[in-house]
Amino acid sequence: MKRLVILISGRGSNFGAIADQIRVNGWPIEVACVISNRADAKGLEHAHSLGIPTTVLSHRDFDGRDAFDAALATAIEGHRPDLVVLAGFMRILSAAFCHRFAGRLLNIHPSLLPAFTGLDTHQRALDAGVKIHGCTVHAVTAELDHGPILAQAAVAVRADDTADVLAARVLRMEHRIYPMAVAAVLSGRVRLVNGRWVDGGRGEFEHAFASCVLEPIA
Ligand code: GRF
Repeated sequence: MKRLVILISGRGSNFGAIADQIRVNGWPIEVACVISNRADAKGLEHAHSLGIPTTVLSHRDFDGRDAFDAALATAIEGHRPDLVVLAGFMRILSAAFCHRFAGRLLNIHPSLLPAFTGLDTHQRALDAGVKIHGCTVHAVTAELDHGPILAQAAVAVRADDTADVLAARVLRMEHRIYPMAVAAVLSGRVRLVNGRWVDGGRGEFEHAFASCVLEPIA
């Protein structure tokens, strides 16, 4: 059984999608803990309902980013995870933290990186007039939203899209690619080598992702 720790700050729908797909597909993955930096994160209730252990570690209780990140790292390591997944975790992590978990830390970002790093991605995509938008699963490195890209899904931008409507369509694709990416890493179908994701040796990686990268256009 591979062990997964998931970090959230709010709604936790990506955590929910990952937990669902583990159950539905019978993947040999255990969500060892959901950790939130906010006690009121909705996702914690979902974790409780699934019987998944939770921890709340508020950044407000620490004197600065380094102290919080050190405590967070200790809390995570206590669960001996094979992989740590950021799922709407709204804290910038220090370089020391990123180095400590290098190669076993994933994030999902709601844009087609390298476009639209940072916040407010859907409105910025609309303002820029892009016709294709989407989401990206990437390894986390010290440079925000810049780590090696593992998976992406694209959606067409519609003329009448608002940021919320577009966000909802992108989120549906997040829920498709994040569980697949987690499973691909934990099963060894893909590995991070010298800053690039490569096939784990069985020739399955590209194939596994081929069917999920594009939202069907209505
Ligand atoms: C998602 O859009 C994700 O891409 C971004 O934060 C949002 C989290 O949503 N990093 P949820 O908490 O998983 O529902």
